[in-house]
Amino acid sequence: MFYPEELVEEIRLKNDIVDIIGSYVKLQKKGGSYMGLCPFHNEKSPSFSVSSSKQMYHCFGCGVGGNVFTFIMEYENYTFVETLKYLADRAGINLPEAQYSEEAKKQAGLKARLLEINKEAAKYFYYQLKSRRGQAAYDYLKKREISEETIKQFGLGYSNKTGDDLYQYLKHLGYEDSILRESGLISFDETRKVYDKFWNRVMYPIMDVNNRVIGFGGRVLGDGMPKYLNSPETKLFDKSRNLYGLNFARISRKPNMIICEGYMDVIALHQADFTNAVASLGTAFTGLQANLLKRYTKEVLLTYDSDEAGIKAALRAIPILKEAGLTAKVVDMKPYKDPDEFIKALGAEEFKKRMDTAGNVFLFEVEVLEREYDLNDPEQKTRFFNEIAKKMLVFTEEIERNIYIEAVASKYRIGFDNLKKLVNRYGAQLVVGQNDQPKERITQGQKQKNKSEDGMKQSQKILLTWLIEDTGIFDKIKDIIGPGDFTENLYRQVAEILFCQYETEHAVTPAKIINRFESKEEQNEAASLFNMTIRGEMSDLERRKALEETIMRIKKNSLDVQSKKAIENNDIQALQNIIREQADLQKLHISFHDG
Ligand code: CTP
Ligand code: MN
Repeated sequence: MFYPEELVEEIRLKNDIVDIIGSYVKLQKKGGSYMGLCPFHNEKSPSFSVSSSKQMYHCFGCGVGGNVFTFIMEYENYTFVETLKYLADRAGINLPEAQYSEEAKKQAGLKARLLEINKEAAKYFYYQLKSRRGQAAYDYLKKREISEETIKQFGLGYSNKTGDDLYQYLKHLGYEDSILRESGLISFDETRKVYDKFWNRVMYPIMDVNNRVIGFGGRVLGDGMPKYLNSPETKLFDKSRNLYGLNFARISRKPNMIICEGYMDVIALHQADFTNAVASLGTAFTGLQANLLKRYTKEVLLTYDSDEAGIKAALRAIPILKEAGLTAKVVDMKPYKDPDEFIKALGAEEFKKRMDTAGNVFLFEVEVLEREYDLNDPEQKTRFFNEIAKKMLVFTEEIERNIYIEAVASKYRIGFDNLKKLVNRYGAQLVVGQNDQPKERITQGQKQKNKSEDGMKQSQKILLTWLIEDTGIFDKIKDIIGPGDFTENLYRQVAEILFCQYETEHAVTPAKIINRFESKEEQNEAASLFNMTIRGEMSDLERRKALEETIMRIKKNSLDVQSKKAIENNDIQALQNIIREQADLQKLHISFHDG
């Protein structure tokens, strides 16, 4: 859905940043701006600054920054459209309905109704739990030390013994069989006999990140089979893209996320104030879930059950997490089976200690591997070390590899040099296998290239920061350099907006620029431009020199890029123009220096 820029701007202007951030963070006026403790990293003295005049924020500690939209996006973990809706609502602005196709409307209508049904069902189950009929289920939860508050937070409930209770209730609310069929809550058999899917179970509503109930898990009271029953996949409920507890965990503001196996583990962890715990929904952990987590964290702690199945599940999840770019660590829960049991036995503090000493996944993998070999048998022991040496090759940095060699060598007492020799032997085999491709040299060259590309990026970034800080520069440079000279895609877009703003309004409004970008990465990147401070105190002369050098570098790079293109296209005319400009650049160099 695309909203017109004027509307976006109106919403921004009607939501004062000091008001909004002030409702999340305690702010104190300090000179021209407001200071507080940064909500995005842990700190004891305030380095988070909010500027009323710029309508932007910036943390001098961790470097985050942006406008009122990015703040809400970051803090609430909303998408841009969700943020827009939220802030429009707050300011009493009506957002126009999105233009959808007939089919899309129908699907959206269906989804909305399924959401309603799930919500009604959750309310019904909750009510049942609190009623006399739910006494046994309530006692069961109490026995498992679930507090009243937790029951409420997670909306736990009870599906009672009458076989079509929920069905009758939903019918009474006016839902037809056809939609109830799609809800997954009601079963219809061939003879059109109707009964509730969940029956005499403790009910766990499963919520999406926006706190909407999309399905249920139901547990038997006691030892019956199957222990858990889950809603089938429906138009709403996709088990591979949701995580139990993520609606709470995503706003937990903890440095990492905890993945565990069971609903009960999530609940017990949250109750013990580990509000960053999530679980997959009775199925194996997926790449989609890893990517979902990556929106909220960089590090994941695995607290899978310590039994055989749990270890297997952890070994499967590790590469998926790595693939998504997440760091994973394994929490040792021995001698207990799962976090729920651990916390009950040893308490939250002890669990926290285990979290803090959570082991590296590589060493965990080595430990698991160890069980396959009898280390008292010399031959098996040798094979074990060979396996490890092969595994070590995943570490491409020498220092990192040495650290692991050291760790493993000392644990198994085989001596650093011995293990290192073994690793190197496998490493050499790998290189021989690839020697028709001079891989090393290519990567070296690539590194060089990346380095100079980074330098150019930095120059373009600095120039934009300068333009924002001192709009007087526009007039000085506009004949030399324009938005087209910014070869970095994002910076070119920012430059275009800035030059345009300056031309029409003779001022720049950085806060307005952020929402021109759609992805979070782009927004952060654009926001970072406005929070950069040009390093150190500079005299006027130094400043001018630095500015001049920056402009020259950018222009020269731009002309180089253009001439390459002209040569490729055999465009003589263009090439001549570029050569003339290159010559002009030398002259400008002097006049700029003097002026
Ligand atoms: N599960 C399932 N169906 C089963 C058993 C388990 O879908 N028959 C799923 C559930 O999502 C469950 C998870 O696998 O939460 C882990 O199983 P388990 O360790 O048995 O669950 P806990 O939440 O620890 O259950 P409890 O402590 O209540 O026994
Ligand atoms: Mn359990």
